[in-house]
Amino acid sequence: MTQRTLIFVKPDGVRRGLVGEIISRFERKGLRIVAMKMLRFTPELARKHYEEHVNKPFYPALEKFILSGPVVAMVLEGEDVVELTRAMMGKTKHTEAAPGTIRGDFAYTTTENLVHGSDSPERAAIEIANFFTPEEIVG
Ligand code: RTP
Ligand code: MG
Repeated sequence: MTQRTLIFVKPDGVRRGLVGEIISRFERKGLRIVAMKMLRFTPELARKHYEEHVNKPFYPALEKFILSGPVVAMVLEGEDVVELTRAMMGKTKHTEAAPGTIRGDFAYTTTENLVHGSDSPERAAIEIANFFTPEEIVG
């Protein structure tokens, strides 16, 4: 089933010059970019986007990291794109992310793990609306 998902290259990915590498992997897989922009998180957007994590012990470190520089956000479209992009990203923990995945190939800490992807179609709809207006989805 054709779906959409919210992806962003995190501040470490931008700092390390891996924006092209990460987008390229999704493009070569055949996924369609239907919206894209560079932005900086605000504390409000961080709390909204990571609402499931705000009370966890790692949240202060996560918020500091996500506010540390710009991110490149996009909406990707494709068949089963949520599950597919999660598989291409690799597991959250750097030690568990398999080689061949984005995190497996490039991440060396758990917090700074390069890329975000929505984890369900329901979350994708909410997250896309947090980052993009309907007019900004142009693809
Ligand atoms: P994301 O939401 O960014 O796509 O990552 P995810 O689903 O793989 O992982 P999630 O459990 O949603 O955690 C969100 C982000 O919080 C940071 N984190 N740090 N130090 C820690 O124990 C820890 N756990 C999570 C990571 O940046 C993770 O991607
Ligand atoms: Mg998550």
